[in-house]
Amino acid sequence: MSETPEIRKGLYGVVVDETSVSKVVPETNSLTYRGYPVQELARYCSFEEVAYLLWNGRLPTQESLIRFSAREKALRHLDRHLIDLIMSMPLSCHPMDVLRTAVSFIGAQDPDAYTRDSEHVRHSALELMAKLPTIVALDIRRRQGKSYIEPSRKKGFAENFLWMVFGDEEGSPANSRSNIEAFDKSLILYAEHSFNASTFTGRVVTSTMSDTYSAVVAAIGALKGPLHGGANEAVMHNMLEIDDPSKAEAWAKEKLNNKDLVMGFGHRVYKKGDSRVPTMEAAFKELAEEHGQTKWVEMYDILAKTMEENTSIKIKPNLDFPAGPAYYILGFPIEFFTPIFVMARITGWTAHIVEQNENNSLIRPLSAYVGEEQRSVPPKSF
Ligand code: COA
Repeated sequence: MSETPEIRKGLYGVVVDETSVSKVVPETNSLTYRGYPVQELARYCSFEEVAYLLWNGRLPTQESLIRFSAREKALRHLDRHLIDLIMSMPLSCHPMDVLRTAVSFIGAQDPDAYTRDSEHVRHSALELMAKLPTIVALDIRRRQGKSYIEPSRKKGFAENFLWMVFGDEEGSPANSRSNIEAFDKSLILYAEHSFNASTFTGRVVTSTMSDTYSAVVAAIGALKGPLHGGANEAVMHNMLEIDDPSKAEAWAKEKLNNKDLVMGFGHRVYKKGDSRVPTMEAAFKELAEEHGQTKWVEMYDILAKTMEENTSIKIKPNLDFPAGPAYYILGFPIEFFTPIFVMARITGWTAHIVEQNENNSLIRPLSAYVGEEQRSVPPKSF
């Protein structure tokens, strides 16, 4: 008789493969990209340098960074067909649907889309990194009835995005060095996180020898869910619902009593706290101070304390908890928080796609069957 197989629902604790892209050590709350602590990368590097690091395994020299950034800047523009496609998407659909469709279209335009050699995958990755912000900014502005701002060929990645969304009128975060830096840090923190659900989805698709764009489209679909990337949007909806910090404690306790999930808390891997939170929390608090919106900080602190003190496992915030209100303060519409996450995570996804391609084995788990025993189709009575 065969033994009952052990089932790890949600692949809880299962190690499915090796990776050299990033390392998460929950015991010490540490996360490294290619060996470098993410806090140090956020402090000393730009998002462009981190993208280069994730794809190449080493930080760029000054010269290679200049060349890399010039290539990225040259790929930012969208052609007429892609602009028309985005403009034709229903205003009622979620911006993640626009992004998913746009990536699929870019893939259809690439005559070498099915080329799986690492150089081509890295080129597709750079093109997606360059174009996603233009797509997201165009989508934000068309929904606001505003005209399209063409990407700059001079500005850095973070600054260019803020500029394409908000322009350079007074009060635009694109005019503030501290706002640009806070946003850049969020992109670095969101860039990569080992075998999370969307990255794993991308690796599964890649393992079938499918193309890069299909893997990215699937990953976008996985990230959209509120248990994954969609949590940053849910966090801000909750904060707006609470509205007044004095109501935050009672709100969180009621959620816990009702066994409801509180978005922006908990993590499948980190059980003692998310290594990315302190950096993002500091950036969020500085932004709140600068924009005179400290009410969100007050609410943030109360919610974090209430969750920790009223759960047996002392549930702590994850990255989405400070990132949600930080993006709100910067002025992004809430439904665009997850598309912005995609702009960052495209770097990690594609680093994993390269890795999967280079050492591939079809990902195909087993299941334990719990349905009907084998039976014969009965004779027809009609
Ligand atoms: N709010 C309330 N309760 C939570 C919680 C949250 N955010 N996260 C975990 N819990 C509870 C679970 O329901 C579970 O309770 P139970 O033992 O009574 O069933 C207990 O804490 C242990 O859960 P755990 O095993 O740590 O969760 P998980 O690994 O299965 O799930 C998440 C991890 C991320 C899916 C989960 O924490 C969650 O849904 N968080 C909210 C969504 C979110 O912020 N996602 C972004 C992740 S970066």
